[in-house]
Amino acid sequence: IHNVIFDSSQEASIIVAQEIAGLIKEKQSLNTPCILGLATGSSPIKVYEELVRMHKEEGLSFANVITFNLDEYYPMDKDNIQSYFYFMHEHLFNHVDILPENINIPSGTISNEELYQYCIDYETKIKSLGGLDFQLLGIGRTGHIGFNEPGSHFNSGTRSITLDHITRVDAAPAFLGIDNVPRKAITMGVGTVRSAKRIVLLGWGISKANVLKKTIEGDITPQVPATYLQEHNNTTFVLDKGASSELT
Ligand code: F6R
Repeated sequence: IHNVIFDSSQEASIIVAQEIAGLIKEKQSLNTPCILGLATGSSPIKVYEELVRMHKEEGLSFANVITFNLDEYYPMDKDNIQSYFYFMHEHLFNHVDILPENINIPSGTISNEELYQYCIDYETKIKSLGGLDFQLLGIGRTGHIGFNEPGSHFNSGTRSITLDHITRVDAAPAFLGIDNVPRKAITMGVGTVRSAKRIVLLGWGISKANVLKKTIEGDITPQVPATYLQEHNNTTFVLDKGASSELT
């Protein structure tokens, strides 16, 4: 792994969007689909903003793009403004020419009975397309990537998970109180993420400084699932000054 530290998240996000756009165009020239793993939350918002700008002003097409989102709360309706389904449409999909059938987001409405098979199918679909070309990540204060909370296995696949208390505390303002934050989610696994050919993790602000120190400089441990990325051969941590402030 290596780290790149920028003065601002704005500047950094533009560089990351340029890498993604470059990959999309490279795949276009080869006439092959570009398989992107995408994240929600505050961290990737400016990356999506820049991709939308490139679509509108520079004609960047998403016609060959197939996306797989990392996670979704469970249970969660698609039209709920807290859903990751809603988030992705609001920030990216509604503003670009991606084909609706090429959008994959774990379903927050799948029944309990169907959940297990649904997760296996999500995993199989990624593999059948040749795997993720690029995975965009944020990081939670628990060290989660996707919603792989402490205790997650190195080889875990897409599955349902119980959210850590700290994760629910962090989500509470958006849900107007912790009691409204779902207790569960569906998430791609650590193994799913690690299988990506390229991983970029975004970290902004002082609130992420401590977990990023553990992630980048600490021992690999299931207590901080993001430390598993230390063993991935093509991962970059893109940080701003605040997020990098505890690195030695
Ligand atoms: C979101 C996701 C999470 C977030 C993390 C950081 O799809 O998988 O791991 O990336 O919780 O969230 P923000 O960016 O809001 O600080």
